[in-house]
Amino acid sequence: MKNIILTADRPTGKLHIGHYVGSLMQRINLQNKGNFDEYIVMIADAQALTDNSRNVVKVRDNVLEVMLDYLAVGLDPKKITFCIQSQIPALSELTEYYMNLVTLPRVLRNPTVKSEIAQKEYDKEEVGVPVGFACYPISQAADITAFKANIIPVGDDQEPMLEQTREIVRSFNRTYNKDVLVECKAVLPDNEVCCRLPGTDGNSKMSKSLNNCIYLSDDEETIKKKINSMSSFPRNIEDPGIIEGNVMFTYLKAFVNDEHFKKYYPEFNNLEELTKSYQKGGIGDGRIKKFLNDVMQDVLRPIRERRREFEKDIPSLIEILKSGTVKANKIANETLNEVKETMGINYFNDPNFVNEQINKYNKTN
Ligand code: TRP
Repeated sequence: MKNIILTADRPTGKLHIGHYVGSLMQRINLQNKGNFDEYIVMIADAQALTDNSRNVVKVRDNVLEVMLDYLAVGLDPKKITFCIQSQIPALSELTEYYMNLVTLPRVLRNPTVKSEIAQKEYDKEEVGVPVGFACYPISQAADITAFKANIIPVGDDQEPMLEQTREIVRSFNRTYNKDVLVECKAVLPDNEVCCRLPGTDGNSKMSKSLNNCIYLSDDEETIKKKINSMSSFPRNIEDPGIIEGNVMFTYLKAFVNDEHFKKYYPEFNNLEELTKSYQKGGIGDGRIKKFLNDVMQDVLRPIRERRREFEKDIPSLIEILKSGTVKANKIANETLNEVKETMGINYFNDPNFVNEQINKYNKTN
């Protein structure tokens, strides 16, 4: 069996450190391991439009921002095919056929869609939930199956979409009696805190709409400010520090390595030692913030600098996306053809169809 890796992001904003630990790091790992036949990264603008139909400019303006973030973290256009979802018509056609294999209650049961609907407060607005939004997991199944992708590096909030995709794959293959589509599996971060990195407010998942993000492209001062604004419980420096729900320590767990200790906090060898000492008391939150800032600056500096280099040659980025999209269309069209053939609706390329119809009318006449 071939190994085909596929993943995508909605271009609704620049990527942040939650994306980085939640999925981008795994994507880089997979790239470096090199164990794949095809590796596709898609900018899911059509999916972004399912809840931004009145704000196309926002989506359009973020296509290249996301592409820059991809290249900045080290995804390599020599190994990866980058493409834009809306420019691959076969995906919409596949979506249309898959819609018939999914029931309405099943669509509305998707926990990620449910919580997004709640967060967007659609029920409070007159407009209600767009049909395209409720159905985006079906179009996501098209994204994945069009390339027969089996390996999907994503954040763990995407697991319900992959479950839905597997159901569609099984249903299609069963209904049309041929193993055409391929089942997929998520690749999630190894480190538990990376799955749902909280925002700088410590309360909820990092999310643009909640204004609690550190972006991969933030400058040094902005990062420092955001770290300094993290909530800390007022306490006497000698009092024990509390780790549970402590966003500074959550970030350290996600980002720190022993080298950082050598460089910036040589009193300790590793996070375990620092944690123990903090819990005992005697270490102020100001010191932890300073250390966290040193760590985050080390992580983000090379990403930001690489981004600046790529920003100097935007036409090349567009060219990469354009040629990648041509290639993606070729693969997706092949799958669409196979799907239509399997369903029996590839009329003009189907000699059986012509003979069948001729015979039918020969008999009746
Ligand atoms: N739903 C994904 C997100 O919000 C984006 C996405 C679209 C995707 N199509 C995909 C992810 C296919 C993986 C595979 O981040």
